[in-house]
Amino acid sequence: MKKTAIILAAVSAVVLAGCAALGGDDTKAATKDMLFRSFETKGIATIDRLNQDEIQAACSEAEMNGKELDEAVRTRLEKEQLATIKPPSDGKYLGDWTKAEKIAQSGVGMAWSNKADTVNGGNCYACHQLTKQEISYGTLGPSLYHYGKLRGVTDPNSPAARAMVEYTWGKLYNAKAYSACTLMPRFGHMKGLTESQLKDLVAYLLDPNSPVNK
Ligand code: HEC
Repeated sequence: MKKTAIILAAVSAVVLAGCAALGGDDTKAATKDMLFRSFETKGIATIDRLNQDEIQAACSEAEMNGKELDEAVRTRLEKEQLATIKPPSDGKYLGDWTKAEKIAQSGVGMAWSNKADTVNGGNCYACHQLTKQEISYGTLGPSLYHYGKLRGVTDPNSPAARAMVEYTWGKLYNAKAYSACTLMPRFGHMKGLTESQLKDLVAYLLDPNSPVNK
């Protein structure tokens, strides 16, 4: 009994010394290694999901250091993200708002148990209020209730609304283009939602007849 305790103590001392010896890049490499060893590819959830792109890595690093992203780096990264935004292939940004509540409500998709052809949801309510009718919503993101109305959009098809329509599309397509370390998913860039789903959501946010603006 005593012998086991001594051995255990000795082992933990060695482990602790090992940890103390790690620092900076070594710690990062060890953490990454541990992450990769504790996940495995399952169904459509492949291990490469753990690979961060440059902007994700920069934001993780800033967060770990308890710092904001360096101003110049942030500006450059946001500019690069902005360049990834593709306008709708037919040039029409506004879809069918009546289809969008379902997309906003659904958190289905991208899990290992989903099939490659599963229709994903946007899970918008997990982070945003959107309508008065739905009383269950997260508050990680700002309320989007009256999104179009508050921005003075009375006719989303009018030239006056063009800039707001394009911004809303861009925000949904790649939120990092406007806020580098946002927690909002990049729905177009990462192919979480289809072009037609994105259009339906843009219409939902901006059409004065949609429950978002009622
Ligand atoms: C994981 C949380 C999360 C999810 C899911 C999410 N968002 Fe966001 N969203 C945010 C956060 C945080 C912000 C504020 C920071 C920013 O601007 O990126 C935001 C900002 C926005 C904005 C900009 C608001 C403004 O005033 O300019 C819009 C529009 C938006 N979200 C729409 C959506 C829609 C539509 C969905 C679903 C398809 C969605 N979001 C899903 C977290 C989320």
